[in-house]
Amino acid sequence: MIRRYDFGMPMETGAVVETVSPSQGDVPFFTVDKLGPRFSLALGADDVIFGLGENVRGINKRGHIYRSWNSDEFAHHENTRSLYASHNFLLFYGEDKLFGAFFDDPGALEFDLGYTDARQAVITSENGDLSLYIIQGDSLTDIVEQFRKIIGVSYIPPKWAFGYIQSRWGYASDAELRKVVKEHRERHIPLDGVCVDIDYMQDYKDFTWKPESFPDMTQLNQDMKQEHIRLIPIIDAGVKEQEGYFLYDEGVEKGYFCKKEDGSNFIGAVWPGRSLFPDFLNDDARRWFGEKYRLLLETGIEGFWNDMNEPALFYTPEGLEKAFDEAEKARGQNLGIDAFFALKDIFGQVANKPEDYRSFWHDFGGKKVRHDKVHNLYGYFMTRSAAEGMEAYNPDKRHLLFSRASYVGAHRYGGVWQGDNTSWWSHLLMNLKMLPSLNMCGFMYTGADLGGFSNNTTEDLLLRWLQLGVFTPLMRNHAALGTREQEIYRFGMQEDMKNILTVRYALLPYLYSEFMKATLGGKCMFRPLAFDYPGDKRALRVEDQVMLGSECMIAPVYEQNARGRYVYLPEDMLLVRFRSAADYDLVPMEKGNHWIDLQLNEMPLFIRKGCIIPLSRGGEWVDDVDFRSLTMLGWADEAAYALYDDDGMGKNYDLEKNTRVITLRGGEAVGDGLTLKNAVLKA
Ligand code: GLC
Repeated sequence: MIRRYDFGMPMETGAVVETVSPSQGDVPFFTVDKLGPRFSLALGADDVIFGLGENVRGINKRGHIYRSWNSDEFAHHENTRSLYASHNFLLFYGEDKLFGAFFDDPGALEFDLGYTDARQAVITSENGDLSLYIIQGDSLTDIVEQFRKIIGVSYIPPKWAFGYIQSRWGYASDAELRKVVKEHRERHIPLDGVCVDIDYMQDYKDFTWKPESFPDMTQLNQDMKQEHIRLIPIIDAGVKEQEGYFLYDEGVEKGYFCKKEDGSNFIGAVWPGRSLFPDFLNDDARRWFGEKYRLLLETGIEGFWNDMNEPALFYTPEGLEKAFDEAEKARGQNLGIDAFFALKDIFGQVANKPEDYRSFWHDFGGKKVRHDKVHNLYGYFMTRSAAEGMEAYNPDKRHLLFSRASYVGAHRYGGVWQGDNTSWWSHLLMNLKMLPSLNMCGFMYTGADLGGFSNNTTEDLLLRWLQLGVFTPLMRNHAALGTREQEIYRFGMQEDMKNILTVRYALLPYLYSEFMKATLGGKCMFRPLAFDYPGDKRALRVEDQVMLGSECMIAPVYEQNARGRYVYLPEDMLLVRFRSAADYDLVPMEKGNHWIDLQLNEMPLFIRKGCIIPLSRGGEWVDDVDFRSLTMLGWADEAAYALYDDDGMGKNYDLEKNTRVITLRGGEAVGDGLTLKNAVLKA
């Protein structure tokens, strides 16, 4: 059951696509203080809180304070309160509680989840204009399904986007990209895509490329496709201020950029220097920008990543001017230590200033709206712009799209990557914890920068991170300019890394099938254990294992120098200890706590007793994988697996038509037109 409560004048965010009429009565569960408004709720000692999508800390969000305010937080850590995305859906779960709450408010929201007072959750809206949806149901899964139903079906990428993608900020030419591909292919390291970062652009201008470094984009794409590789260029939100640059000229002429209160164009600096920001919230401006993706689509590009769309602001001319003034005042003074540190901070704090976000306006639904009131929609509407542009270019074909900033609603138009992480072991674990939370909020196509974006990775960190990346729909190795080179072939343990990639490709039929079934059914591909084992108090507290699909559980190693880990099995499971797609052990294990040995080159997957999953022979790119010749893995005598598959490009997502059931009877696999190889059974 879903009820909606409105406060102030809620904005039409488009997050919810099904009609839910506003209720008149009192909001259940929360005490509402009209000032704010502020929503308070007493927390029992054992209550847990799930959700909030992309955020730091636990799968259980209790005990910290979070602020929904899309932020370029490239060096985030466990005290960070805001990341790149705002996903305001939570699940409250305890002895007397089982409900979901979605705060549809595109401005800043604070979630004090037992931080100020451990016995209370207090949620405060800074805008004061919002719709609150309260969802009740029989189980956590049921509540999420109801929520996902009202927010609409999540974005589906092409099948090739489930392949391994290599990325680096710094690939600056046609020749360099070809070399990256060649190094992979020569070593038979599987690969489906290479991300092209801002280095391809002429002076960081969207929809341009440097002619001297990329003389023939169409030819390059053609050659790449011969190698079964797709190039995936980045598009940034900021448009360079430069007369003669078509995007700037057109945008200014049509009035499509965000404006200051006096009607002049708002300027903020990002990679291209002084830039203007398309008003994606304005329908015409959004369509205009989206149309421009065609310029790259026409060269053979089939997917993009959208960036800097919080929007990030390195500085505004006004902010910079103020900083100079203040710094000037300090010149020649005998600075005390406080004044010295204040001086040091003047320029450090010039980026992403709250006052800058209050200094520009949108034309949203025919109304002038100040940016901070709708801040969290900006990345969402940029994603929408790109998705609509690509859809208009080729309505029958799926395109790859993932964004940095997002809000609920953006999940229908594209995926998200988990932003700029760091080459830290703690971020590997954070990557895992975000997966179920993101799924609850509708974000299905997701993954982190494997190996870590900033700072230098280590060989073992990359290897362990790849072992988690095997399971994430977006599997991308990405690193920042100036960091240690992070392509697999740079490392001594490249053979082990390659072997781990063979596991990804061998599991593709399963991973794709589970992704599609979860996405089309409004379910979570990744779930906290509590979803599947509701009565199990131990499972409720597990923070470093998650359920994957209907049959499996994952428990990656996330500590340096570990040669194994403790795992809690909420039921009997089959451990598959993979070294490669062709080399693995099958170990039946009983419910309970276990230590599992895992050498650096080994990764675990747990299959629930009574279930079977398909394993293919793998391949070097997605289309090379034979989805029909399968080995069924499991610990069962009688079992069935519903394998979803489709052409991977078109939009015929018919669950029933595209699903074939593989059954196992008396220990024999019964093929339904499928070539079934030995069913591997251990009792
Ligand atoms: C941002 C992105 C990162 C990218 C860089 C340069 O920091 O998050 O992925 O590499 O910009 O474009």
